[in-house]
Amino acid sequence: MSDDASESPAQGDAERERNPLAMETLVSLCAARGFIYPSSEIYGGIAGFWDYGPLGVELKNNLKAFWWRRMVRERDDVVGIDSAIISHPRTWEASGHVEGFSDPMVDCRTCKRRFRADQIEGERCPEAPKKRAVTDCDLTESREFNLMLRTELGASVDESTTAYLRPETCQAIFSGFKRVRESARQKVPFGIAQIGKAFRNEITPRNFTFRSREFEQAEMEFFCHPSESEEWFQHWLEVRLQFHKDLGIDESLLRTRPHASDELAHYARAAEDVEFLFPFGWQEIEGVHDRGDWDLSRHTEYSGKELAVTNEQTKERFTPMVIETSVGMDRTTLALLVAAYREEELDNGETRVVMGFHPALAPIKAAILPLSKKLSEPAREIQKELRKHFNVSYDEAGNIGRRYRRQDEVGTPFCVTYDFDSAEDGCVTVRERDSMNQERVAIDGLRTHLTERLEEGS
Ligand code: GAP
Repeated sequence: MSDDASESPAQGDAERERNPLAMETLVSLCAARGFIYPSSEIYGGIAGFWDYGPLGVELKNNLKAFWWRRMVRERDDVVGIDSAIISHPRTWEASGHVEGFSDPMVDCRTCKRRFRADQIEGERCPEAPKKRAVTDCDLTESREFNLMLRTELGASVDESTTAYLRPETCQAIFSGFKRVRESARQKVPFGIAQIGKAFRNEITPRNFTFRSREFEQAEMEFFCHPSESEEWFQHWLEVRLQFHKDLGIDESLLRTRPHASDELAHYARAAEDVEFLFPFGWQEIEGVHDRGDWDLSRHTEYSGKELAVTNEQTKERFTPMVIETSVGMDRTTLALLVAAYREEELDNGETRVVMGFHPALAPIKAAILPLSKKLSEPAREIQKELRKHFNVSYDEAGNIGRRYRRQDEVGTPFCVTYDFDSAEDGCVTVRERDSMNQERVAIDGLRTHLTERLEEGS
């Protein structure tokens, strides 16, 4: 079964108080400001597919870069790959997905809609008007529905050409295990990581991007000796929880939750989720899984290629165990948007909306705002210099207060104002998003000043 079967909207009062944002508010801000909007919007959208606009792509790219830096570049024992989305179809037989990657589904013969059986209360169709009696609901028996998206390769349409869009990114890590270990001269324990698209034909995509049919995962498979797998499981769980805190997400919005034995995916011996408190309740954003030797053993069996390793010192031959960390980039982006949103009342009685992103994640790092259009030339010069180093926007439309508000709403940490004194004193005013404090900074040292402040805490 796919993850988090009970996407319950139920939320206690205390939790709602901690996280009072209404999803509709966030969804409209995302569309209006170009973070995320429905894919194929002019055709009415397509359920479970979303497009990232100019700010959304920057935010998600920053998240991916942060993950890659932490998980690959800063470690000697993890290497990265980027594999094809379509694998040899036998891959999915070996992985157990052809047989076991399904959700129970029921159809309503009256409204013709399809639902996950585990999300239906009693025998009533969720779309049926409240006054309709249960006996008038015409639901089919529950059937297993495979979540993999199929496609055909080549010209002839027969069974041999059926391929699947990967439902998780990690299988190419397992099938490429020997090649990567040898070419990167790695020894167990070590890990292989990748970020990429995954596809699932979710029966009920919902909660904005939370449950999509196309999404991105960042996965790391860590291969270790069987005697060390519990230790590595704990290690990675701690590392991954810390990662989410380092994204600037408040601790009160994060928790870990172990899976009960009847919740475990077909490949997992143990699992613990990192959950985030969304407006629709606590939900998984990352899974840490003990996959045992399931994957390497199955690929050995199905491919006929030996994937065991030998300990050079002891000469012991063993199939490594796998500890997996699997985080959704779209779900984490959604968590970042939820966590960042706040409304503040200003002294003049106005309200400002602020997206309080960690500076390392903010889509725009600094906005250059000339006080008057007459000052556009030198202000553009500053932008030209700074944009070599980070994403910088330029805005000369409207009064300065309104321009600050626009930047607050998309989470820009710094606004740089070029005014009528700047030519003379060689300084600009730098205004910080959260405190709204302003300071004069020499144009000569502006890049270093901003770089240092952007890197604080990352
Ligand atoms: N390789 C293991 C695996 O795929 P999973 O718990 O099914 O495990 C891992 O998925 C992560 O991928 C989830 O924690 C979630 O962040 C993300 N994910 C899974 N299904 C998703 C969907 N339909 N939409 C968006 N993200 C999804």
